[in-house]
Amino acid sequence: MPGRDVIEQLGTGPVILPSLLLCDFANLQREVEQLQEAGIRGLHLDVMDGQFVPNLTYGMPIVDALRKATQMPLDVHLMIEQPERYLQAFANAGADLLTVHIEACEDIGSTLSEIRSLGMAAGVALNPSTDISRIEPALDVADLVLVMSVPAGFGGQPFEPVALEKTRQLRSRADGNWVLEMDGGINIDTIASCSAAGADWLVIGSAIFGQSSYSDAIGKLLTLANH
Ligand code: DX5
Ligand code: ZN
Repeated sequence: MPGRDVIEQLGTGPVILPSLLLCDFANLQREVEQLQEAGIRGLHLDVMDGQFVPNLTYGMPIVDALRKATQMPLDVHLMIEQPERYLQAFANAGADLLTVHIEACEDIGSTLSEIRSLGMAAGVALNPSTDISRIEPALDVADLVLVMSVPAGFGGQPFEPVALEKTRQLRSRADGNWVLEMDGGINIDTIASCSAAGADWLVIGSAIFGQSSYSDAIGKLLTLANH
């Protein structure tokens, strides 16, 4: 499923992508099946290195395990220093879309180009405290812009409204052919403002995994996103 195909497959939404940070890793297959039954069509994976962010999560083996468990697109969010070191490894593991942080890359243009040449779609992410002008050099090459609505690093943090303004600005640009994704603090109180600002893809962790029924939680979130 090379490059932009994965983006066309998911569409521009609104699409909910569950962040698997808080899922039950002892029962990954069951989690994937429950999410799929709840209408989920793609998965968001948060890779953290304990350097770029203080938290440490998982890497290629989990991507590889998920690739074997499902055909759903895998949207991999790299919160790691010098991500260019691992692009080939994540391609081999089965990532369909690879997003790198502008704050972690020395040469964003060449990193995004390499991601695409490896057959994946390429995303650029920016933290709430990063000025939108920083991603300007990436916008020609990126397939997706990930506007973080919490500082990268942890699930369960409060939503930062500055992300709405960035999303609106990006959405209003005439040259904008990117998918706009928002990630962090999205729940039943904040999701409608995210889609109204122009976000296509909404990454959600605690507002799904903290709930007893994934179907009910996702159904409610989608209804709110569609208003
Ligand atoms: C934060 C991650 C997010 C996060 C989402 O660094 O990129 O994907 O875990 O979790 P919630 O929805 O709980 O903010
Ligand atoms: Zn994420």
